[in-house]
Amino acid sequence: MKDRIVNLLSSKITNLSAEEISGILEIPPRPDMGDFAFPCFRLAKEYRMAPPAIAQQLADEIEPQDYLSEIKAVGGFLNFYVKKDQYAAQIIENFKSNSSFGSSSMGEGQTVCIDYSSPNVAKNFHIGHLRTTIIGNSLYKIFSKLGYKVVRINHLGDWGTQFGKLIVAYRRWGSKEEVEKRGIQELMELYVKFHDEARDNEALENEARAAFAAMEKGDEEALELWKWFKDISLKEFIRVYDLLGIDFDEYAGESFYMDKTDKVVNMLTEKGLLVESQGAMVVSLEDYDMPPCIVAKKDGSSIYATRDLAAILYRSETYNFTKCLYVTGQEQKLHFAQVFKVIELLGLPCAEGLVHIPYGLVSLKDGKMSSREGNVIFAEDILKDSIGKTASIIEEKNPNIPDKDEVAKMVGIGAIIFNDLYNQRIKDVVFDWDKLLNFDGETGPYVQYTYARASSVLRKIGELSEDIDYSLLTDDAAISLLKEIDRFPAVVKDAAARYEPSVVARYSMDVAHAFNKFYQECQINVEDTALRNARGQLVAITRTVIRDALELLGMECPEQM
Ligand code: ARG
Repeated sequence: MKDRIVNLLSSKITNLSAEEISGILEIPPRPDMGDFAFPCFRLAKEYRMAPPAIAQQLADEIEPQDYLSEIKAVGGFLNFYVKKDQYAAQIIENFKSNSSFGSSSMGEGQTVCIDYSSPNVAKNFHIGHLRTTIIGNSLYKIFSKLGYKVVRINHLGDWGTQFGKLIVAYRRWGSKEEVEKRGIQELMELYVKFHDEARDNEALENEARAAFAAMEKGDEEALELWKWFKDISLKEFIRVYDLLGIDFDEYAGESFYMDKTDKVVNMLTEKGLLVESQGAMVVSLEDYDMPPCIVAKKDGSSIYATRDLAAILYRSETYNFTKCLYVTGQEQKLHFAQVFKVIELLGLPCAEGLVHIPYGLVSLKDGKMSSREGNVIFAEDILKDSIGKTASIIEEKNPNIPDKDEVAKMVGIGAIIFNDLYNQRIKDVVFDWDKLLNFDGETGPYVQYTYARASSVLRKIGELSEDIDYSLLTDDAAISLLKEIDRFPAVVKDAAARYEPSVVARYSMDVAHAFNKFYQECQINVEDTALRNARGQLVAITRTVIRDALELLGMECPEQM
């Protein structure tokens, strides 16, 4: 419908391209303002007329069309009123002609690497990591829906001097039993103890450096310990991923690039980009108003940035990516700007595809969130708490539904995911249980509940016929809902273009609102077979779109809740 109107306008407005017209054409906020509106302000200069006069002139010039009931100039706008039955027919037929509405083949033949989650071994998987995990997973789904091949990469923080410290601490104060029993918590406490003790004992630092140097040289005993710490940590991380239903294609952490950093150093040397600075080897980024990028420390060892440079070379060679996305907190902005600049200075074309995707902080409304011991908060505890709290709400509201545990899991996890994705990623997120679990708020559970409501209506109606009388779908609430449905493909593309899952989250909420309005205003399970069928079809389509939108966020939908 939009294309038709764009074409119609194109035939009269010659100084704008069809694309420009399409970009300007609006969908008014209220149906009485038309189904589409063209603001004439942009034409004022060219036409040497006031916008209302231009709108009137266009209204007079454009011939009546069989699919339009009215073309009306209102102020500086030209409003188009579409014949509603035709509009409904077109949207539904378009939906049905697509085996997976919202998907596209625009990404075919292109690969996107997404580096996300990437927690640090022997450290807790905290709510910040939860957010990169959730955002990264959603971007994976969004890009996949558009036909891209996506490689999901977990760049584990599993290398660096901290492991030297941990090995020393373990050897001095640790025990196998405690580490086995308490996992990451114990490793973290050993690490803290190292720092406490090292304050009055300088020898400890040297010992730790030696332990890490031993690791880098391939010392078996040191590496065995390191590997064990890593396995223990991974086991805990994977528990979180399992709760979230998330998987990775690659767990190539920082240690994976250990033997691949020389190559970067050589390339930089060949290009004459490496300079010495206080014993370290760096790439000067002065011309770009950034501090130098350190590539090798005084003792020749690599650092975080070196391993990221090596990772880019590896990924570019292995996957020939169109884009490589990095989802981390904003505090790493400079790090990625430096690393990307170095790749650009190397003259590598893959530099163009490197994108840092920062996100805001997560803070807690009340400090009283459950944690095992001390003040650290584990993502796993948050997820489990959410499931538990959801189970109590279900127990209170609807204790007789089947598969209660499964539903509590879907909704409890979904609430956390939605809370992380509903606002633009750069905004800070406040973690507030009452808000995010409110079944009537702007929450995941609300949208899931809307899905369950649609499912329940369909169960009551039973079989639907494909023979739809579209003239029965012309109520304002039905048309508004159809318009929302129609936006889905554009929403997915927009979310990908902006690396912004919130676009999809907001959309799911808009569809849910439009559906609930339709549900209130238009009785669905009526006597009249044709009316029941037409409305039932709209419910079925809405249900699919809500499910598919939430799926893009990484959420599942219960049939009852
Ligand atoms: N391990 C890092 C952290 O926890 C994130 C790693 C992000 N990815 C990367 N390629 N640097 O902050």
